[in-house]
Parts: sequence; structure tokens; C-alpha cells
Amino acid sequence: MLSLQLLGALSSAALLVSASPLFPRTCPTTGATMDLPADQTKLVNPNAAPKFILLGAGVQNYSCSAATSTYASIGAVASLFDISCQQKSPAFANIQDAAFDILEAAPADASVDAIGRQVGAPELMGYHYFVSFGTGISPKWDFTSTGSHKGDASAYVIGAKDGNISSPNDPKTDVDWLVLHGVEGSLAAQMFRVDTVGGQPPSSCTPGSDPISVKYTAKYYLY
Ligand SMILES: *[C@@H]1O[C@H](CO)[C@@H](O)[C@H](O)[C@H]1NC(C)=O
Ligand SMILES: *[C@@H]1O[C@H](CO)[C@@H](O)[C@H](O)[C@H]1NC(C)=O
Repeated sequence: MLSLQLLGALSSAALLVSASPLFPRTCPTTGATMDLPADQTKLVNPNAAPKFILLGAGVQNYSCSAATSTYASIGAVASLFDISCQQKSPAFANIQDAAFDILEAAPADASVDAIGRQVGAPELMGYHYFVSFGTGISPKWDFTSTGSHKGDASAYVIGAKDGNISSPNDPKTDVDWLVLHGVEGSLAAQMFRVDTVGGQPPSSCTPGSDPISVKYTAKYYLY
């Protein structure tokens, strides 16, 4: 009788675990901090361990503004891979460069979802893209459709930008580093984009020309 009760308790516990994947399959991030430039105060390491450390790989999209003959951002789409387990490895510092080289060499229609595996970060946690929000578009990090949060309808966050700095590496080529806060969803309260590679548009464009997609990679830290 006792063992039956125990079995019952165990199986309902197991059911609970599989029904509510509250915890991502991830390595501890205790003590992990972002490597931020010292000569600025806009991006500051929060006083807490990141909830997620992610590699993003995808494209930044732009359309040509007829008024200025320059490209304006119209969003982005990227695949997000869990890199919390790579954090202590020597390859971590440059994982975004390794991923960018693979992305750059891949045909335009190749699936970006495979890139994580090629840099030792196979777990696809979700997607980053833009959604209509308020009067414009806003970035979203969405873990609801894949990975260990799949099916958890609250596993997303929409962000609003609080600050940006030029990339300390190559600001003409690499998109800004950013800090944002969550305005909807419960995945995170604060998001950072750092260690960017690529993503910047050409400095000018011909009015009337088609929108463009520029490949990029970055690290995203979610707190
Ligand atoms: C960005 O461009 C890609 C194609 O390169 C497209 O699949 C995606 O829907 C675009 N996203 C936005 C927000 O423009
Ligand atoms: C921050 O972003 C704005 C808007 O894109 C841009 O005009 C500004 O130059 C950026 N600031 C820095 C320090 O990169």
C-alpha cells in the first residue's frame, strides 16, 4: 500500500514536472558577468546572475528611407541558442565570431537553427523577432515554440530600449550593444545585446530600393 502511494506521489510529481517546465535545461550562471567596455555607464552588469545566456544568429532588416537615402531598421529575426554551458570554456569569448563565420558562408536560404550545433551549443531555446507593439514594432524573445520552455505561454518577453553604445570592436560593421527592459511577458525583466558581429547596413541607399537583410550574431544576456 505504502509503495503504491509512493508510486502515485512519484508519478504525479513527474507529471507536474513535465507539465510545467519552469526551469530551462541549462548550466548554472552564478558569477557570470558581461564583458562591458569600461569607458561608459549605459550598460552595467546587474547585481544578479543572468537567467539566460544566449547566442543569437540571424539577420537585421532595413528599408531605405527616401528622405535621407539611408537605411532604417525594420526589425530582425534570429535563432537563440543556450550558451550557459559554454560560459566557462575558452571558446565562449569568441563563440559569436565562430557562429558568424558559419552564417556568412551559408547560403541565404540555409536554416539558421543548425548553427548552434556547429559551435557546440545545440540547444535551440527560441527565437528573436519583432512584433507590432503600441505605435511601432518592438523586439521579442520567444521561447514558447521550441526548447525546454516549449508550450509555456508566458515564456516570452517584449522589450523597450533603455540605452545603446557603439560596438567597441567595429562600430561600422557591428550593430550597437543594447540594454532593454521587459514591457510584456515573464521571461526576463532586463535584456542585453552584446558582443555583436555584423548587422550594420551600408551607409547609404538608393530611395525605392528593396529592403535588405544583413547577417549578424550576438550574445543576449537575459536577467
Ligand atoms: C527579415 O528578413 C527575413 C528574410 O531575410 C524575413 O524572413 C523576415 O520575416 C524579416 N523580418 C522582418 C521583421 O522584417
Ligand atoms: C544609439 O542609437 C541611436 C539611434 O539608433 C543613435 O542615433 C546613436 O548614435 C546611438 N548611440 C551610440 C552611442 O551608439
